[in-house]
Amino acid sequence: MHEKKIVTVVGARPQFIKAAMVSKTLRIHNNEILLHTGQHYDYNMSKLFFEEMEIPEPDYNLGISGGSHARMTGEMMIAIEEVLLKEKPDGVLVYGDTNSTLAGALSATKLHIPVYHVEAGTRTHCRTNPEEINRICTDHISSVLFACTDLNMKELINEGLEKSSIISGDLMFDAYCHYSGYKRISDLQFPKLSGGYTSVNEDEYYYLTCHREENTKDDDCLLNILKAMNSLSYNTIYPVHPRNKERAERLVRENRLERIILIEPVGYIESLALLNGCKAVVTDSGGLQREAFFAEKKCVTVLNFAVWPETLVDGRNSLASPENIVDRLFEKQKINKGYLPFGDGKASVKIVDEINRFEL
Ligand code: UD1
Ligand code: UDP
Repeated sequence: MHEKKIVTVVGARPQFIKAAMVSKTLRIHNNEILLHTGQHYDYNMSKLFFEEMEIPEPDYNLGISGGSHARMTGEMMIAIEEVLLKEKPDGVLVYGDTNSTLAGALSATKLHIPVYHVEAGTRTHCRTNPEEINRICTDHISSVLFACTDLNMKELINEGLEKSSIISGDLMFDAYCHYSGYKRISDLQFPKLSGGYTSVNEDEYYYLTCHREENTKDDDCLLNILKAMNSLSYNTIYPVHPRNKERAERLVRENRLERIILIEPVGYIESLALLNGCKAVVTDSGGLQREAFFAEKKCVTVLNFAVWPETLVDGRNSLASPENIVDRLFEKQKINKGYLPFGDGKASVKIVDEINRFEL
């Protein structure tokens, strides 16, 4: 096996978590060049993850963020191409479905560099969901597709991509197995958006995350979600993505939603502590709905399309509109311990083995 030079493209919070799980193994036999597009850039959306998970410093940070989808993706492509022309890697590794994923995959493919896509085959079948376009395009131009689950593999087979696809399991499960239990909720204090700190008691709060374009682009949808959470008899703790920080603060203040505690985005290990200590999860995050499943916490997903249908079983996760969050939340879940659709927590080993083995 010869050493390969692999450029890994990351840019958004969930990609740092996935790269953390792969980087260590990948670097045993290969030369990894880490390229951060800059899509997420606040300390607690980016550097904090590198520090907590001991991810090596990026070799490049392109500093590209915000703006329209086309502008962000286009600017990233131009800058990534320059790096690829200079580094001449044997392959480019991309994760998930963000604009950074698509930009990395397109730039590499145009230079005839093999692309490895982790988290391939996820489909919502909703073309207005911006991530759906990124996923479909990335899958169809990649050389090796890593599917998290059987269902993802089925989608890839349906699209004629069987030959280049393998089931690796889910890196989010690897990460959960590794980092869950690092911190307990009783040891933590969280910076509130309004100033000062807050702490929470185990099993006395709901954990909310909500950042998707679909839920945060105007006041109505986010306000209805917050009102539903405020009607519950325990507080809701909500680390707010910078995308909707101002809107969330204003809505909570104007509507006196006293049971909603807005905090700054937290690190991954703190997010797992919030998850493990909560009564239940309400989210629109693809990552958090899987983590709720791993932690056997009841989850309600505020979206009208399924990102991870594997979790929508036995009342464990339910899709909801803002109007029926509370009803869904009180439906009982049943845990079947033998049902493990996300692999065995060793996806990173399978991914690196396949990258090492791959020949053009
Ligand atoms: C992106 C992904 C989404 C993923 C999410 C993970 C796309 C199309 N979407 O959405 O799939 O679920 O990341 O969290 O790529 N911002 C800051 N500080 C930051 C990061 C962002 O202020 O550290 C601002 C940006 O300037 C922008 C807004 O938040 O105005 C949205 O950021 P963007 O990266 O476009 O999309 P996300 O909502 O983060
Ligand atoms: N997360 C975090 N800090 C937070 C909120 C979420 O570390 O303040 C973690 C969460 O536990 C999960 C990941 O971020 O591991 C999910 O990322 P996000 O919701 O941003 O993106 P998505 O999964 O929807 O693409």
